[in-house]
Formats: sequence, structure tokens, C-alpha cells
Amino acid sequence: MIALASDHAGFHLKEEIKKLLETRGIEFKDFGSYSDKRSDYPDFAHAASSAISRGECDRGILVCGTGVGVGIVANKHTGVRAAMCQIPEAARLSRLHNDANVLAIGGRLLNWETARTIVEVFLDTEFEGGRHIGRLDKIHKLTNL
Ligand code: RB5
Repeated sequence: MIALASDHAGFHLKEEIKKLLETRGIEFKDFGSYSDKRSDYPDFAHAASSAISRGECDRGILVCGTGVGVGIVANKHTGVRAAMCQIPEAARLSRLHNDANVLAIGGRLLNWETARTIVEVFLDTEFEGGRHIGRLDKIHKLTNL
């Protein structure tokens, strides 16, 4: 189950991502926004990230203008590892090395072809494990500093 969220600046890209997920038969829950009317990205990114933190969703894809704002919000949630990606290779490595469970992307930065590739790579790449596990444990211990 994928948690989706955006603000107005990410709304149209989120809608395209929904079509892609439907095509691939992947279940999702849309936490808003539900239009491109001006809105505040922390509200929607928090709702989606909380669902991941609680274990109700497995991963998330969050979209704002740049991906930066939603990524900052997501990374405040326990157990959420959000990767702000602008190229597919970053998405690939965020899965292989960081076991990123949230993809944060920018509707104002990416054309659809690049965004689609980033999303597909994020969905299709598995965590490599091994030497990266101890590093994730160290990140987890930094919660609530
Ligand atoms: C909205 O104008 C914009 O600030 C927001 O979508 C996002 O890019 C923030 O990081």
C-alpha cells in the first residue's frame, strides 16, 4: 500500500502517478491535496507519513514544488526514510543503500518521463541489506535527539 500526498504544486504529478499505479495494479491511499488550489504541503505530507510510521502504508510518494518541503516533513516521522530525488540513479541508490520508504519529488522540477522513471525505479528496486543495515540502525537511534 502506497501513501500518496501533494500540495497544489505537486497535485498534477500526483494524479499522473495514481494512473501509473493503477496501471501496475499497485494499491494506494491518497492523503490529498485533492485539487491544485493553494494549500500547505506539511498538512498532507504529515498525514501520509504518519500512516507509514504507524505501519498502515508500506511506502510513500510525496510531491510538492521541489520535493524538498515534503521530504523535510516526512523525515520527522519515526521509521520514515524519505529520499528527495531528481534523477533515477538517486532513487535507485536510495532503495539499495538507504532502504528509503518515501520518495519525495518536485512537480515543478521534473517532466513526466523523468518522474515516471524515478517512481518506477523507486518501486522496483530492493534494499541491498548487508553493510547498510548497521547504518540504518544508527539512523534509527538518532530519533528524538
Ligand atoms: C509551494 O509554492 C512550494 O513552496 C512547495 O510546493 C514546495 O516546493 C516546498 O518545498
